[in-house]
Amino acid sequence: MPRLKPSKTIQNRLEMVRQALRQKSIPALLVAHRADYFYLTGFTGEDSAVLITGRSVTVITDGRFESAAKKEVAWSKVHFRRGDLTSELVKVIQSSPCQRLAIQADKMTVATRDALRKGLTGVRLVDAPPTISQMRERKSAGELKTMDNAIRVAESAYRAMLKTIRIGQTELELAARLEYEMKRRGSTEPAFGSIVAIDANAALPHAVPGNRRVKSGCMILFDWGATVDGYRSDLTRTVFVGSIPSKFKAIYEAVLTSQKKAIAAIRAGVRMSDVDAIAREHIADCGYGERFTHGLGHGLGLDVHESPSLSWRSDQKLVAGMVVTVEPGIYLPGVGGVRIEDDVRVMGNGCQVMSHLSKSLKSAVIDVAR
Ligand code: GLY
Ligand code: MN
Repeated sequence: MPRLKPSKTIQNRLEMVRQALRQKSIPALLVAHRADYFYLTGFTGEDSAVLITGRSVTVITDGRFESAAKKEVAWSKVHFRRGDLTSELVKVIQSSPCQRLAIQADKMTVATRDALRKGLTGVRLVDAPPTISQMRERKSAGELKTMDNAIRVAESAYRAMLKTIRIGQTELELAARLEYEMKRRGSTEPAFGSIVAIDANAALPHAVPGNRRVKSGCMILFDWGATVDGYRSDLTRTVFVGSIPSKFKAIYEAVLTSQKKAIAAIRAGVRMSDVDAIAREHIADCGYGERFTHGLGHGLGLDVHESPSLSWRSDQKLVAGMVVTVEPGIYLPGVGGVRIEDDVRVMGNGCQVMSHLSKSLKSAVIDVAR
């Protein structure tokens, strides 16, 4: 039997958004970012949008998601579009008269924004308050449980994949095996394009897997995650086949200690930029300051990269309930790189590392059969 009322969780989330809109005297909000409308309504269809007013919620979708709409948002109005999304959005918005409409310009294409501007008459577009992103930063007990599942699936798949590595396999084969093992365990899709990078490719923080082959003495960087009930995990481990060169032993230890120091500093009230600085300072002390070329981490949840940014760029403080990745790395162009990444829950008096895969130097040297 379809629900005629949203769950308590959805009701509370919608009420918080409506409160923020009321405070700014905004009568309507258009949410076109999939993770945001899923968070606010539970609707899983893609290429859709949700219009929220003080009294109503309208899901604008298409025939592909008819049964999803029936099951997930029977309590809302549903508009099945026949034309393209933007022109139907114009129709729906125009039929629920409002003089101001909030949009999330940072999560919308310029083309959509321009089409709305052109198509709507008598409606002024204003920026949505950052409420939804802020709400999504702090995970509820239910969200944490789901994220735990996404982490367990990724970890178990990784362990299974490690056992199957053979000399001569390509990065793409290893990525395929990892994704297969995640799917077998219930991941609906990889959390992002899985990274499997051998030797010089590992020097690229966002390497694309290709045809480099596993050989004795090579390094392999894995950065992967699962998606379970919409929530994502994001982990990185770097391993060495057979043995580890002394230079990379020192690099591995530098990255590991940097990550541990950063994690030890994580608790509610601490500045993101201070945690980033702790990790960065250790890597600089080891002589590789210039080779840690990205922020320390990012918020994780329905999107693989979401607010907050755990980096020098952020002036935010950590808040209990946030889940952030902690992923320092050292990259030597043309040679290789080491990154270690875990998913960490911020708490009032410290933090909880949600991922449990070993990251000791010993665990980083693996035996691979021919
Ligand atoms: N795991 C991919 C990233 O954090 O960018
Ligand atoms: Mn990450």
